[in-house]
Amino acid sequence: MIFNKKTIEDINIKGKKILVRCDFNVPLSEGKITDENRLLGALPTINYLIEKGGKVILCSHLGKPKGEAKPELSLKPVADRLSELLNKDVKFLKDDNVISESVKKEIEQLKDSEIALLENTRFRKEETKNDEIFSKELASVCDIFVNDAFGTAHRAHCSTVGVTNFVKDSVCGYLIQKELKFLGDAVEQPVRPFTAILGGAKVSDKINVINNLLEKVDNLIIGGGMAYTFLKANGYEVGNSLVEEDKLDYAKDMMKKAEEKNVKFLIPVDHVIANEFSKDAKAIITEEKNIEKGYMGLDIGPKTVELYKKAILESKTIVWNGPMGVFEFKNFENGTKTIAKALAENKEATTIIGGGDSAAAVNMFQLGEKMTHISTGGGASLEFLEGIALPGIVALNDK
Ligand code: 3PG
Repeated sequence: MIFNKKTIEDINIKGKKILVRCDFNVPLSEGKITDENRLLGALPTINYLIEKGGKVILCSHLGKPKGEAKPELSLKPVADRLSELLNKDVKFLKDDNVISESVKKEIEQLKDSEIALLENTRFRKEETKNDEIFSKELASVCDIFVNDAFGTAHRAHCSTVGVTNFVKDSVCGYLIQKELKFLGDAVEQPVRPFTAILGGAKVSDKINVINNLLEKVDNLIIGGGMAYTFLKANGYEVGNSLVEEDKLDYAKDMMKKAEEKNVKFLIPVDHVIANEFSKDAKAIITEEKNIEKGYMGLDIGPKTVELYKKAILESKTIVWNGPMGVFEFKNFENGTKTIAKALAENKEATTIIGGGDSAAAVNMFQLGEKMTHISTGGGASLEFLEGIALPGIVALNDK
């Protein structure tokens, strides 16, 4: 993939104040970080900047506080954990206004190779509006802006896009480069056969992804809730399964497009069903594609698993976004788990997990290490797979 944006290696770091936009939007439970992949992903850039003697000012959003300072969405736990991971103090610049005179003073006192973290940028209502005033405030604390927040690159906010209008050097960090390399190479120059696996609840979330990937892949595998819309569009009974009636025509169009493009379009041939959506629901395996009245599909069935596994094991490039079933419920985890195992088993293939729920699933089954790349972006990796230019990356300086 041709990448023409300036990177942290193209600029002089020593003694400069460097504002680094990370994606520290991590899951928290009782103040503890429950998945620290996004923190780990940010370390190479931070370490490089420290090594080169920069004064590092980190920033990020966390959750959706909607312009209000919500204590439970403070980035303090992130500062604490980063200090441990870096083995170096990360000074937390606690301020509900994110930038203030006192925060500016603390930043002025930073020495070379010291690190600070600003409070949640979304405590400011201007952040998500890409407003000029807050963008200028962010720019005022730095000499250089580094965007390394791949997970937020699809958002045109003050801390991802606006700030770049007021800083001369806006460059990208190692995480963004890595994400673009893996996702970009997979989609633009895949070793074939190239298989995309799409799952998750809704067709409507993946409309443009399906359309775009049909131009590129050899196999498109469909699982999860969205599969039932494709089955119904093919004339099968789906009982009480999730169906988007307004997407039936779209589903037919996509299957027609696949045929025209010579893409193998795989949809489930059997299911694991239940009469209610509950973790204790009794799992029943169907013999065929139809689902009887009063039941809903909650996972792909064993014949489908075998069919999908075969396609996966024969592939050389695999991109996976979205679970095959309700993997959070033990009785309905098999499809997602077996597909994850098949990816792990295929040592010949480049395996890319496109963030969000599929990343959570792979990690839950402890197969993360076995994948070539797990994206830190949920929405961002989906938009990338749709072929959309991500605004947070577009805004950076060209080489
Ligand atoms: C994510 O978790 O996908 C990113 O951090 C973006 O978060 P958002 O959807 O709240 O903008």
